[in-house]
Amino acid sequence: MAVQTVGVVGAGLMGSGIVEQAAKSGFQVVMREVNDQALAAGHKRIASSMGRAMERGKMTEQDRDIVLSRITGTTDLDDLRDCDLVIEAIIENLDLKKELFGSLDRITRPEVILASNTSSVSITALGAATSRPDKVAGAHFFNPVPVMKLVELVRALETSDETMDTLRQFGESMGKKVVTAQDTPGFIVNYLLVPYLLDAVRAVENGIATVEDIDTAMTLGTGVPMGPLTLLDFVGIDTTLYIAEVMYDEFKDPKYAAPPLLRKMVNAGYYGRKNGRGFREHSASK
Ligand code: CAA
Repeated sequence: MAVQTVGVVGAGLMGSGIVEQAAKSGFQVVMREVNDQALAAGHKRIASSMGRAMERGKMTEQDRDIVLSRITGTTDLDDLRDCDLVIEAIIENLDLKKELFGSLDRITRPEVILASNTSSVSITALGAATSRPDKVAGAHFFNPVPVMKLVELVRALETSDETMDTLRQFGESMGKKVVTAQDTPGFIVNYLLVPYLLDAVRAVENGIATVEDIDTAMTLGTGVPMGPLTLLDFVGIDTTLYIAEVMYDEFKDPKYAAPPLLRKMVNAGYYGRKNGRGFREHSASK
């Protein structure tokens, strides 16, 4: 089935990025949020990201207007009924996601694929909340979605080959390189990235070097665009803790155990860039 209209549920950092990239790639997009305020914030994020793309000469004003004309915002889940594919990008809460997948299963046509952008929740569990587990898969994008070239597709226990093929075509038409992983916590990227980020926090705890020197060392020493503690702020300290806990629960491997400093920072409200408090953000730099 050719995908023309994409539904995206959740217009946070990831959801709004997926909406922007899908609309840029020529799809009609229906973006759904729970209330007008959250929806307006999603529209604002997209406008400012495209503003940055224009400043960098990646987009003209005319292109921006065409992209914006493809995006329809709504707070009513029923407005996703005519979508050919739906991508979920709400908060990382299994019960909420299961409830949403049950609703999407009732609202959308039976042949429609329901994908999740989750970093940590079991795709198989989401499939089991629907009557179409063969049409449920993971489509995990990376932040910032318009810039990061990867999408990880996740095959759950019952996902069909046809679903994977359709999502692969969709990912490529979004301008992304597609990789495929099994439904295990962390998929590929976080399976490898999360222990590295946690080790960087342990390095701070153990007084190996300053936050700044750890970031400088890894940026200049390994050629990555951001050091691990800047990246932690960027991904979200709370999000990283959540993902680490899901992985630790599953694997019981100490490399996924959250270091006390990470938990302490979350308890104190240090979430990283999203609230301006983190390892490299403002007051936390000490
Ligand atoms: N739209 C389109 N293009 C944009 C853009 C936008 N909104 N913003 C920037 N760009 C382009 C720029 O034009 C530039 O392209 P060229 O190299 O072709 O000129 C490129 O993106 C980089 O932009 P800048 O040089 O202005 O920005 P930067 O050097 O500060 O890079 C960054 C910013 C892309 C975020 C970079 O720091 C980076 O790649 N950081 C690492 C991000 C990362 O690792 N993300 C993954 C996190 S893990 C995750 O998301 C998954 C999870 O489950 C936790």
